[in-house]
Amino acid sequence: MFKRYRRTRSNTLFRDLLQESRLVIDDFIYPLFIKEGRGVKIEVSSMPGVFQMSIDEAIKECDELKRLGIRSIILFGIPTIKDSVGSEAMDEDGIIAKATREIKRSHEDMLVVVDVCFCEYTDHGHCGVLDPKTKNVHNDATLLNLKKQSLILAQAGADMLAPSGMMDGMVKSIRDELDKNGFENLPIMSYSTKFASAYYGPFRDVAQSSPSFGDRKTYQENPANRREAILESLEDEAQGADILMVKPALAYLDIVRDIRERTLLPLAVYNVSGEYAMLKMAGKAGLIDYEKCVLETMLSFKRAGADIIISYHAKEIANFLNS
Ligand code: PBG
Ligand code: ZN
Repeated sequence: MFKRYRRTRSNTLFRDLLQESRLVIDDFIYPLFIKEGRGVKIEVSSMPGVFQMSIDEAIKECDELKRLGIRSIILFGIPTIKDSVGSEAMDEDGIIAKATREIKRSHEDMLVVVDVCFCEYTDHGHCGVLDPKTKNVHNDATLLNLKKQSLILAQAGADMLAPSGMMDGMVKSIRDELDKNGFENLPIMSYSTKFASAYYGPFRDVAQSSPSFGDRKTYQENPANRREAILESLEDEAQGADILMVKPALAYLDIVRDIRERTLLPLAVYNVSGEYAMLKMAGKAGLIDYEKCVLETMLSFKRAGADIIISYHAKEIANFLNS
């Protein structure tokens, strides 16, 4: 009788020895949503366990993250004032510029990544400047603003920029601007393959960034397109991205694998808000073993070829891995 597979599954020593992918907490980046004020910490109803917080609370949160072994965060801003171009994103006293400076001052040893986009800062909720005639996001006008936003965040002390707006040419524009201003050592992690996904729903509640009209299909990718998804990540590599990304993660594992096989760059996945909410709610309803399902999902990202996982589950995972 054929027994090869059963033979090497017979005990944990064999199973651990033969395990092909593994989760380590160093692979994770934890997202933080920053708001004005002091002592503010508001739980998001669609994402239990995720909070909007003021800078002082974020600084306390970093103590907790380091205690858990998490040393990388990505910042999203919730400005007090929104306008048609998202001015606050280009202001050195804007919420994320301030948060970056203050977090780096208290936590020099934390890797602070910043999301570079305008949807949280515009009153219409789109990821850039609108063309007055078509009401479509104007690509090249947005590139000019992305340069300004990037420079402000670089000067504030960000360790890495993560442009997420899906404008054509965004990586090259930002790279040129950084290089011209003495930031040639600052890496760019591009949201290189980002789909127009319904899984961003809860994030848009937290970040208050839902488009007030239309959708993001004129700049984010069609979920049906595989070749285009590969092309666009390779394009960002050619433009000088240091790290590529696929977003969302779970419904796009095939794309993660496709890109993994075509680039030698590090590859991140963004395990998005809707993915988090689904597991969370199923866990709360007692329908699944939450811990096991979270770990199995994370392992699927590693198996598909991801090096880095951006996830709202990072703190829970740290606890699971430590116990
Ligand atoms: C916006 C942005 C989005 C996310 C991160 N940056 C989504 C969007 O297009 O509205 C989604 C993150 C998540 O759902 O967790 N540039
Ligand atoms: Zn955006």
